[in-house]
Amino acid sequence: RRMVAVVRAEGGINPQIRKDEAKVVDSVLVSDLSKPLTAYCRCWRSGTFPLCDGSHVKHNKETGDNVGPLLLKTK
Ligand code: FES
Repeated sequence: RRMVAVVRAEGGINPQIRKDEAKVVDSVLVSDLSKPLTAYCRCWRSGTFPLCDGSHVKHNKETGDNVGPLLLKTK
């Protein structure tokens, strides 16, 4: 039987967003999107989470990471 090791990043991936919640979940009805392009944060550093505010640029510069937003497009 194969063993799978789970390694947790120290402190987790989310440094500060809604830490009082057991699990941070956001739901978006795609048909309600009003703009042709909406960027959703995947770096967990945005001040407007769950929307991207560009904070991933600073995070990537400081850490050498390569994270970016999820782009939802209406066309
Ligand atoms: Fe998190 Fe842009 S601010 S992906």
